[in-house]
Amino acid sequence: MLELQSISKSFPGIKALDDVSLRFEKGEIHALVGENGAGKSTAIKIITGIYQPDSGQIVWDSKRLKFHNYKDSIVAGIYIVYQEIQVIPESSIAENIMLDKMITLGKTGIVNWKQVNETAAKYMKMVGLDLPPTTIMRHLSAAHKQLTQIAKALAANAQVLLLDEPTSSLTQHESENLFGILRELKSNGVIIIFVSHKIEEVMALCDCVSVLRDGKHVGTRPVSELSKDDLIKMMIGRECNDEHLGKLDVNLDREMLRAEHIVRYEKARDISFRVFEGEVLGFYGLVGAGRTELARIIIGEDKPDSGAIYIRGEKARINNISDSLYRYKIGYVTENRKEEGLFLKSSVETNITITIWNAIINRITRKISRSKEIAISQDMVGALQVKATSLGQSVEDLSGGNQQKVSIAKWLAADCDVLIIDEPTVGVDVGAKEQIHQLIWDLAQKSRKAVILISSDMREIIKVSNRILVFRDQQIVGELTDVDDPGKTYDETSMAIGRYLA
Ligand SMILES: Nc1ncnc2c1ncn2[C@@H]1O[C@H](COP(=O)(O)OP(=O)(O)OP(=O)(O)O)[C@@H](O)[C@H]1O
Ligand SMILES: [Mg+2]
Repeated sequence: MLELQSISKSFPGIKALDDVSLRFEKGEIHALVGENGAGKSTAIKIITGIYQPDSGQIVWDSKRLKFHNYKDSIVAGIYIVYQEIQVIPESSIAENIMLDKMITLGKTGIVNWKQVNETAAKYMKMVGLDLPPTTIMRHLSAAHKQLTQIAKALAANAQVLLLDEPTSSLTQHESENLFGILRELKSNGVIIIFVSHKIEEVMALCDCVSVLRDGKHVGTRPVSELSKDDLIKMMIGRECNDEHLGKLDVNLDREMLRAEHIVRYEKARDISFRVFEGEVLGFYGLVGAGRTELARIIIGEDKPDSGAIYIRGEKARINNISDSLYRYKIGYVTENRKEEGLFLKSSVETNITITIWNAIINRITRKISRSKEIAISQDMVGALQVKATSLGQSVEDLSGGNQQKVSIAKWLAADCDVLIIDEPTVGVDVGAKEQIHQLIWDLAQKSRKAVILISSDMREIIKVSNRILVFRDQQIVGELTDVDDPGKTYDETSMAIGRYLA
């Protein structure tokens, strides 16, 4: 049994964990849930020795553990599966799995590569990683990178496995494969600690769930005794609402963007669509269906082989993202927020206002108005409930979900006519999700923008869109209209989508 006893941890201006005590039993998948910034990742980092607690202790089978760094926890058999893992990109899968115990030839110190690869292959097989062990890490998908880390933990005979939002970049199929492996590890007596914002996933996979709120432990319950609504209530202190946000007044006389026969080899197969003022057009499909690729073509990051984009009826020549934003007023909220969306070393405020500097610069002095900058940032931080100690806090120190919110805020603040929003709520807590949905709907209905919402979350896309295009294999395979019709039920729409994908 692994126990956290009265753990507290503070950062400047914030108590991330406040006297938290948790028990993790062997052969149990234990979920750790809570709002963005509740302290989940901090708890994980303390268990793995990445952070040291200010007070309290960690006890493992009635022995007190004292970790000075990450390596100490590995020695104790505690492994973490990161979302964005620190692997050496040019190394092979086998090297990563076997890193800590390279097999050498006798006393020569020369690595026996044949045996390293063979042993690694054994563990790769256990996690269903069907690739040559010599494959270079850089070429792997997110799912394969995660499986590599689990294989590594198996090779090390890990007793505790921690996973911090492991499924956020996995397809449904990959997630299910991962869950199968976790269930098997559980039956072998491994303690599994699982952090996730996906409630359905927690309910399906985990045995019990502990809820953190503002750094405090709210409670621990067996999943079998909880309904989805109970759990949400424990997390955010209120219930959530899945109903459609309401009918949108789409102005069919004002076409904002039209794509005509867009083709790009292996990325887009003859894509045509239109989006109008006041509309939320959903792009639904599974991860990899070609929606992000299409977005990149629209904003000029990738070139189509043929086809054309029209903006307000006129043919557009979009060569890069700056053309897209400043000439045509098309914004793109990337799904790759960590890598592309944020300046991590800069403040919350700088990140939010960066796209609107052109708009708030005083035309004569060329100075950016401080008061405007502050006002806009404050509005956004308030609307999205970004948990930061101040507008000046560097984005790097925010929790994962709060970083997401800042990158979305940046684009909501930008004055675009067409906004493409890619997977806006991955990694965002259930309460904040609702806020983001409302903001997207308002953008269309109240600010009269055209919004393209790319999402793999069916509930989300049905809740906000008035029209949905269904993508499969880089093609549009179906269109659903009047999704926002008050008479239409969620089940009707979701079944119609299912039929297009079948
Ligand atoms: N290195 C750091 N420096 C300063 N503050 C930090 C640091 N790491 C975390 N925090 C703060 O501690 C609090 C808890 O953060 P943590 O990352 O544990 O949240 P979380 O529950 O994992 O949230 P999310 O669901 O968004 O990932 C947040 O307010 C965060 O800003
Ligand atoms: Mg986190």
